[in-house]
Amino acid sequence: MPPFLIIAIDGGAAAGKSTTARALSERFHFLHVDTGSYYRALTAEMLRAGLSPADLPAVEAALAALALGTRVESRRALMEVANRVVPDAELRSPAVNAHVSHFAALPSVRSALLAYQRDQAAVARRHGFAGLVMEGRDIGTIIFPDADFRFFLHADPAERARRRAAEGQQDSIAERDRLDSSRKAAPLACPIGAIDIDSTLLDLETVVETVAAPIAARLAA
Ligand code: DC
Repeated sequence: MPPFLIIAIDGGAAAGKSTTARALSERFHFLHVDTGSYYRALTAEMLRAGLSPADLPAVEAALAALALGTRVESRRALMEVANRVVPDAELRSPAVNAHVSHFAALPSVRSALLAYQRDQAAVARRHGFAGLVMEGRDIGTIIFPDADFRFFLHADPAERARRRAAEGQQDSIAERDRLDSSRKAAPLACPIGAIDIDSTLLDLETVVETVAAPIAARLAA
């Protein structure tokens, strides 16, 4: 019986995490968890409720009232808030892009998601996946520091801005990276023992092959 593998992929905005994680999930039949979409969903909920990240007591009360669930669609885990999956267009809206790093910097928001994210390993096992590939900013540092593989992806800001623009998205990635890297709670950082990949000059196929090779070798051993 092959081992159940946990793969952590961390990096800044538009560093190639999602493409890589999706490719791994297809190749190895892993559950794909994009934790950025979880922070985005909570941000969308807070904005809908008219809350600002500065209004801590109101944010904490709203977090305590949230009922979180998981829907597995194809190989992706989608977060349900009160049985509703926030649509992708809302998750990627300019308002969510502008506010998500501010909500994600709040320790109460991070702790509301901590156990939920770790529980995705049990979700993956229950659904018969061969493992879990989780992408974010603190996966190899905080969520799964003992992951079987930890990868850290980065790329020049200009190249990342070009990728986002090619996706038709309005997103100030340099500002989000500054906020995500400088916050006190679980800042974006390269995890100890991670394989560090600069994707600036690589096409995403090469990044995927670089990440997949040691996983395939482990599964073949
Ligand atoms: O991966 P993304 O760009 O969709 O993430 C959106 C924001 O969520 C990002 O700017 C910071 C936050 N985030 C985080 O703080 N921790 C994670 N593990 C994932 C995302």
